[in-house]
Amino acid sequence: MSGIFTVKDKKEGKVGIGKVPKKLEPILDKISEQYLKEVPDKDASTYHTWYDHMTPEIKSAVEQIQKDTFWNELCDNTENCIMISASEMDELYYSNPKNNLNKINLYGAAGNYDIHRDCIYDFNGIKFYRVIIGLTNGNDNIVTHFNNLNVSRKMNKGDYIAFDFDKSSHQVIKESEKRTPRILLKIHFIVCEKCKYSRDYVERIKGMYLKYEFVTRYIMQVGTDPSTFYQFFFGIMCMFFMSEYAKYIVFLLIGISLLLQYKTKFIYKNITKISLRSLLFLISSYVIVVFFYWSRYKLTGIR
Ligand SMILES: [Fe+2]
Repeated sequence: MSGIFTVKDKKEGKVGIGKVPKKLEPILDKISEQYLKEVPDKDASTYHTWYDHMTPEIKSAVEQIQKDTFWNELCDNTENCIMISASEMDELYYSNPKNNLNKINLYGAAGNYDIHRDCIYDFNGIKFYRVIIGLTNGNDNIVTHFNNLNVSRKMNKGDYIAFDFDKSSHQVIKESEKRTPRILLKIHFIVCEKCKYSRDYVERIKGMYLKYEFVTRYIMQVGTDPSTFYQFFFGIMCMFFMSEYAKYIVFLLIGISLLLQYKTKFIYKNITKISLRSLLFLISSYVIVVFFYWSRYKLTGIR
């Protein structure tokens, strides 16, 4: 095993759980102290700051973490390894999940608390790693759990988890009903072991990850703790796609829309018309659901 990884699995990828080198701890302290002052509402479920938007002081401290040689071990001692930082995706993250997570709608945060993989790509020979580093202490309650590997960690100061962005399934579990605020730093690297591609090609693949992340990040951020119709629109989208029933509901709605169009002959020249009507039916059904949640919130304050 290399210095970072602690579990390797064909299906789940490589996962590492451990402590960052001791020399980085004062830098982590500096970041968390400074960042805590910047979090506007300590009661909010989440607050994110991406690398590009960090204050110069925090940014230079984060840079020291990103550039530490410890992360070279993500190459896992393989020859001809190309490793590139994807700092565009790096973020500082304040998290203070609400109580009764299983009784409330999670909206944009649904993606964290259900079992999930962070991405869906598969580029032959190229791996993408997300590294999460704990910056605060006092967490005896919130567990990051890798379901199919049966390993987990309650992230506290100096702890790291490194995992395959596409392969490692995981979930965040809140063990007891108490608020547990944490600050985490997420950093990212693309790694091509025994690389048969050029650096340029690996950079291009990195670009695909950046695009994916920007879209999902936007949807999750807008949809967390929604209060406007627009925010509910994206928040419910996150919950819906995390639900195991999502595909059945879509099939059912397509079935209903086809039944409603029984008067239109199912022939080649009508296919565009039928498809467009079905799409319109799906979108309208979705908007009605969003309208229900949003108006209920406006009338009763229930999310
Ligand atoms: Fe995740």
